[in-house]
Amino acid sequence: MNITVFLGAPGSGKGTQAKQLVEKFEFVHLSTGDMLRSAIKQQLPVGLKAKTYMDQGNLVPDSVMIELIEEALLSLPKSEDSNIILDGFPRTVPQAKSLDSKAKTRISKAVNFLVPESVLIPRLTGRRVCPNCGESFHLIFIPPTKKDTCNKCSSAIIQRADDVEEVVRRRLDIFKSQNQGLVDYFSEQNKLINLNADKSVSVIQDELLKVLKQ
Ligand code: AP5
Repeated sequence: MNITVFLGAPGSGKGTQAKQLVEKFEFVHLSTGDMLRSAIKQQLPVGLKAKTYMDQGNLVPDSVMIELIEEALLSLPKSEDSNIILDGFPRTVPQAKSLDSKAKTRISKAVNFLVPESVLIPRLTGRRVCPNCGESFHLIFIPPTKKDTCNKCSSAIIQRADDVEEVVRRRLDIFKSQNQGLVDYFSEQNKLINLNADKSVSVIQDELLKVLKQ
């Protein structure tokens, strides 16, 4: 497996970029946030465990997340286990170490999406998502063609419960408390690539492709 992890604050554009890499190129995208939201929708035990943490903007415990991601990685079909992007995992150093402890799931690169906090809050509070197909929009920067309607499947788009300002601030505080440890961890192994993600989606995509090909 060639595993690249996307590090970066909530709203730094990790999911937006990863989804485009899947659509245009042969990448496999695993988003732990999407996996948890899907588990909640299906009322699976892992979703029920995670929901309270997520609604309050807190991290789900490492033990739950490590089991979830290892299971997802190890059950990928052979044809899909080459270029993998992990979006939202690892969030803590123990999560990173758990993948690195096994030869098969060792992390190759960590791309660190850098965006000033003043940009993150409006990005998150303005985000709208499709509860049916998962497509993401922004009221100002990436608006749907038809008001409040998903471009892909025509469902009504909604605001995520954790995108209200109070919860966004909590998520950003937690991010700040954990991220430096991860940055140091990957930097010490020469695996860290810093990416200025305060640019347009297409410019970031071009720069990201260059670093992923390195
Ligand atoms: P998760 O879903 O992973 O949320 P997050 O990390 O907080 O990330 P976001 O999805 O909010 O941000 P993003 O960087 O993907 O931004 P996006 O591309 O959408 O996790 C949710 C929760 O699950 C966590 O709080 C936690 O409880 C739990 N969890 C998940 N993983 C966990 C783990 N490993 N350990 C423990 N708990 C875990 O963009 C945001 C907005 O900006 C969008 O509206 C988009 O359209 C817009 N936008 C994107 N790029 C640009 C651009 N270049 N210019 C203008 N607008 C842009």
